Amino acid sequence: MRKTVIAGNWKMNKTPAEAETFIAELATKVKNPACEVVICAPFVDLDAVVKAAKGSVIKVGAENMHFEDKGAFTGEVSADMLVSMGVEYVIIGHSERREYFAESDCTVNKKAIKALEKGLKPIICVGETLSQRESGITNEFVAMQTKLALKNISKSDAAKVTIAYEPIWAIGTGVTATVEQAEEVCGVIRATLSQIYDDATAQSITIQYGGSMNAKNADDLLKMENIDGGLIGGASLVVDDFCTIINYCG
Ligand code: PGA
Repeated sequence: MRKTVIAGNWKMNKTPAEAETFIAELATKVKNPACEVVICAPFVDLDAVVKAAKGSVIKVGAENMHFEDKGAFTGEVSADMLVSMGVEYVIIGHSERREYFAESDCTVNKKAIKALEKGLKPIICVGETLSQRESGITNEFVAMQTKLALKNISKSDAAKVTIAYEPIWAIGTGVTATVEQAEEVCGVIRATLSQIYDDATAQSITIQYGGSMNAKNADDLLKMENIDGGLIGGASLVVDDFCTIINYCG
């Protein structure tokens, strides 16, 4: 009933030429996937990625956007700019944006609202730090982040949102959450969505796991009831690894 979405998050990797080569190869290897396949790329790569993905199943996402329409925001990119390029998805509130670029629950919410207003599909990231996990507050913290991210977002708009559960201690560390840990928190997110909206809406929203998901561990994670895909950093930089993960779907 809900879509499985396998999304690559390239972060600050690949030049436009490298991006084009990657997408051309991926397009020949992924013809009829049982999931939605998305590549989220740096702003300067987006044009090359959109062009290379044309006619393929690959959808394109940005890694960030600003919440204002236009104006004096040096270095920023608006939702309209992304839409005009043919971008469909946008990652919002990745923990690296929250940590290194001072993004808050408030700006995450503003960005999600703006993305939806402009017809972009937000992939909203939530997840706890190691010390929060060790303090036993993971579930409450992630539920709170989810509620704040979705503040003033209607039920019909919420259906267009993907939530990515990314425990910060698992990102880029090679330490993956166990399937039980990942499933538990994704279940908490779904229960929170049910609380905010209703059960039918909660059941329809895609919840991804992210954090050192790779060609070895993705199969088990993707089999879990509440894990509907992955947000994949490192393993999305290598075509064959990314394809292996896509092929686990369905
Ligand atoms: P990772 O990154 O797969 O390299 O851990 C995931 C992410 O940050 O989205």
